[in-house]
Parts: sequence; C-alpha cells; structure tokens
Amino acid sequence: MGKIVIAIDGFSGCGKSSTAKAVAKKLGYTYIDSGAMYRAATLHFLNNHTVLTNIKEVNNALDSLKITFHFDPEKQTQETFLNGLNVEQEIRTMRVSDYVSEVSKLKEVRHSLVAQQQKLGKSKGVVMDGRDIGTVVFPHAELKIFMTADLSIRAARRQKEILEKGELIALEKIKENLGERDRMDSTRVESPFIKAKDAIEIDTSLLEFDDQVEQILSLAKEKI
Ligand code: C5P
Repeated sequence: MGKIVIAIDGFSGCGKSSTAKAVAKKLGYTYIDSGAMYRAATLHFLNNHTVLTNIKEVNNALDSLKITFHFDPEKQTQETFLNGLNVEQEIRTMRVSDYVSEVSKLKEVRHSLVAQQQKLGKSKGVVMDGRDIGTVVFPHAELKIFMTADLSIRAARRQKEILEKGELIALEKIKENLGERDRMDSTRVESPFIKAKDAIEIDTSLLEFDDQVEQILSLAKEKI
C-alpha cells in the first residue's frame, strides 16, 4: 500500500486538528500540526521580546528556535516542544492566539517553517493541517481538504476546548480572535490562506465528528 500526503487546510476551530489526528491514527500516519509550529515560534518571539520589524532580531530568533513534536496515535494527543520544553498548553493561550497572525505573516518566519514542514513530510505517510499546506507546503499532495464551518459554531467549539484545559474565555472574545485571524491570514501578502484549486471542500458546521473522519478516510483510500 502506497503512502500519501494528506493536506488539511481550514479556518481556526473547524475541527481540523482533531479530524487530522483521527485520520492519521486510522491510517497509521504521522500527524503534524503546522499551526502549533507558528504558535511555538510566536511564543519564542514573545519570550525573547523580538521586534517584528527588525529583520536581524527575527532571523536571530529563528536561528535559536527548535520545534519538535510527540504524537501519540493511541491517545490522539500531540505535544509541542520548544527548544526541548513542553509548551503544548502555553501555545494555546489567548496571549499567543492574539499575536500569532502577526508573526506568521512574516516572510522569514514562513520560509523557515515551511522548509521544516516539507522535511517532516518528505517520506509521505503524513497528515498535516494548516492554512497553506495544499497551496505552498505540499502543492502536489495526493489529497487536499479545505475545511470550513460557521464562525459562531467554531467559536463555541474553541471555547469548549479551552474550557477543558481549565480556562474560561467569553464567547465574544473568542469570536473576535477567530474572525480577526481569518481576516489577517486570508489577506496577508506572503502565502495567504486560500483554497487550493484541487482541494475538496468540507463544511463541518452540521457534520458529526465521525462522519468528517469517515469522509476523509474514504477519499484517502481512493488515492492509496
Ligand atoms: O491552526 P491554528 O489556529 O492553531 O493556527 C494558528 C495560526 O498560525 C493561524 O491563525 C495562522 O496565523 C498561522 N498558521 C499559518 N499557516 C499555517 C498554519 C497556521 O499561517 N500553515
């Protein structure tokens, strides 16, 4: 059975990560959360007080940035490490969410992280989710999915996820953050978040989680 690359791009909070993890588990593939890489880079920049308009500082921060992952397919958990430190919880905080789109629009950041993502997916057998996976990172991915969902539904899902981690954030605040990130990610100059021409669109607003996973699995099986 051949191995393929599955690129899942989509808006924040439409269930990309949990769907991608479940698909990876079923296929015995590796899961890579590219958003976690932009979040970890953002945390690193915040910790170092990197001035985003100072290219030298940005490049220095990128040179001292090492992101690694541990994906447990059985538990369907993923942990992100920044220079050896587990930052999985910290990169999901609003402090990072509010700043990540500013960092991810920088050309230097994108070039560095895209190169790392391409390396991680080189041997195929990978499910990667993000905003530019089907357009820039793996333009020749065998299967490309573009996930969407209604903003209110996405905000409610994200609130529940954050609450499960012990933080209560007002729905309006989450909605505002998601909407603003959607706007910035879609309008940036450097690899804007757009649907790849050959991506299959799945609207998850009214879909059950298992159906989402099944749809992608059956599309994947046609390609494997
Ligand atoms: O997927 P998640 O919501 O965690 O992504 C956080 C942010 O990282 C996005 O809002 C976007 O600014 C950035 N991102 C990106 N390209 C990717 C993945 C994420 O620019 N491939």
